[in-house]
Amino acid sequence: MEQIVEWLTSSKHTVVLTGAGMSTESGLADFRSKSGWWQQIDPRTVATTEALTSNYALFQQFYAARIQALEDVKPHDGHFILANWQRRGLIQHIATQNVDGLHTLAGSDNVDELHGSIRSVRCQKCGQAAEMQHFLAKEACPCGGKLRPNVVLFGENLPQEAWNHTLSHMKAAQLVIVIGTSLEVYPVSQLPHMTNGKTVYINLESGQSHFDLTIEGKAGETLKIIDALLKHDTI
Ligand code: APR
Repeated sequence: MEQIVEWLTSSKHTVVLTGAGMSTESGLADFRSKSGWWQQIDPRTVATTEALTSNYALFQQFYAARIQALEDVKPHDGHFILANWQRRGLIQHIATQNVDGLHTLAGSDNVDELHGSIRSVRCQKCGQAAEMQHFLAKEACPCGGKLRPNVVLFGENLPQEAWNHTLSHMKAAQLVIVIGTSLEVYPVSQLPHMTNGKTVYINLESGQSHFDLTIEGKAGETLKIIDALLKHDTI
């Protein structure tokens, strides 16, 4: 742990990339763990444009359930610690694959949501933004199109601005900290290879071998330990 404290305090450009493992301590399921979404449901039946067009009832039910589950979900200490590190200038950028908005709710700025957000919806046909309650009530767009959350479905392009912004931060980074992701989904899985900086992987399962430092553990707990060492370090 001392090594990451040293790298964090000496790095002039630190980027954090998170995945669903960053939100499990807030009570949200991840995707590929034993208790993950994709162990219960085939992603092709809900997380593709094919599912949106050919099986809208199941598509709407899946996302409506995840949206409604967010009502009782709050950021955990790990989210607040990252927001505090950003305010203190210890980290310069946060990019996430998560669509739950918890980094922003915890006070982090300019978070790049590389897989979009489940907190807003639009019409699949005309692209118009729509009210969430219309999606939850299974209503169609006035144009007749189907409403869908602003998440990136498998096969869709990532938001170009968020991707380019994160890529430029990765290229400039002296330190990249990847937290709570299996790194199984392209192109985000490629991001840690696009930096010349030191790379750290904080995850429950180690699984990745090309990082300079791997810390096996829970995101929130690990961030609390590092934060305590940082505070000690700055006394
Ligand atoms: N602390 C640290 N790691 C954790 C924790 C935790 N509390 N809980 C789970 N993990 C780890 C799991 O062991 C797993 O390796 O986080 C990782 C989560 O991996 P995935 O479930 O594959 O989630 P993610 O990598 O974010 O998936 C990427 O896949 O289906 C798409 O769009 C979806 O954005 C998602 C993308």
